[in-house]
Amino acid sequence: MALQAESAHQGTSKPKVAVTRKIPAAGLDRITASCDAFVWPDPMPPPRDALLRAVAGCEGVVTLLTDAVNGEFFDAAGPQLKVVSNFAVGFNNIDVAEATRRGVRIGNTPNVLTDATADMAFALLIAAARRIVESRDYVLAGKWKTWEPEGHVGVDLWERTIGIVGMGRIGMAMARRCRGGWGMRILYHDRFANEQVERELGARRVEMDELLGESDFVSVHTDLNETTRGMFNSGAFAKMKRSAVFINTARGPLHVHADLHAALRDGTIFAAGLDVTDPEPISMSDPLLSLPNCVIAPHIASATVSSRNGMAEIAADNLLLGIQGRSLRCPVNFQA
Ligand code: GLV
Repeated sequence: MALQAESAHQGTSKPKVAVTRKIPAAGLDRITASCDAFVWPDPMPPPRDALLRAVAGCEGVVTLLTDAVNGEFFDAAGPQLKVVSNFAVGFNNIDVAEATRRGVRIGNTPNVLTDATADMAFALLIAAARRIVESRDYVLAGKWKTWEPEGHVGVDLWERTIGIVGMGRIGMAMARRCRGGWGMRILYHDRFANEQVERELGARRVEMDELLGESDFVSVHTDLNETTRGMFNSGAFAKMKRSAVFINTARGPLHVHADLHAALRDGTIFAAGLDVTDPEPISMSDPLLSLPNCVIAPHIASATVSSRNGMAEIAADNLLLGIQGRSLRCPVNFQA
């Protein structure tokens, strides 16, 4: 595969670029039409050495969350590298400070996945609160013998309180669903006040402890950085209601897996819905997988046709603008 990566560039006068996985044609076709593009052909990520060889001499690279873009990556690419276009809204896989120091533009793909991600957060919330996956397993296992007055009892959503940690675009889309659809009271915790959500939805910005103690559901929508890593640990779960449901559609390392497992196993909280784990994919021996009150999806929040096509279009725009030395459509650095 590494040999393929090295030989795949056509050696034309077009700008040399690499795309580290096949992305939707909505973006890929424009990239391959206007660049000397190598596209990693496997569904699995390129091994590190193959990735480093594939980016050598490139002016631009489209990366995925699974590609670590750091000093080693920039060294391997070489000084002609102008842009790294991440096919994701998050960019915790990229050392942005190092990119900026080297004059490499970084792009991401916001907005087009906001609603899909909020839908996923809400889907996990209702699935975990109403024990839907566990009930399906029960049916498939042939255990459904009768209607059970005290069986499969979950928690109500209507007019409950949701605590949203990280009130950015996705947090706000989740808040709108909870308020407009289910009449929930909205509490949020964020470094910044979000006046729009306060005005529109009557949301109240509170300290973390108040959010944890007051909320029936806690949904995390913050980015992963050294201050947020592990913020949902045993201390945080202990402050939540025993009937609470925890939802994470942001990044796995925001919660401590072992602590979440203990909280779910011991009844410290009622249930959890995760679209993200740490590591990804989750290890098949992870004890979280054996808990009926934990619903886990394989990081699919943006997996809708329009979101993925939109992401591909933005990723292509970012790449093509970047190799021309122009401002990106969705810049992470060099915003001016
Ligand atoms: C997915 O997690 C993304 O950041 O787009």
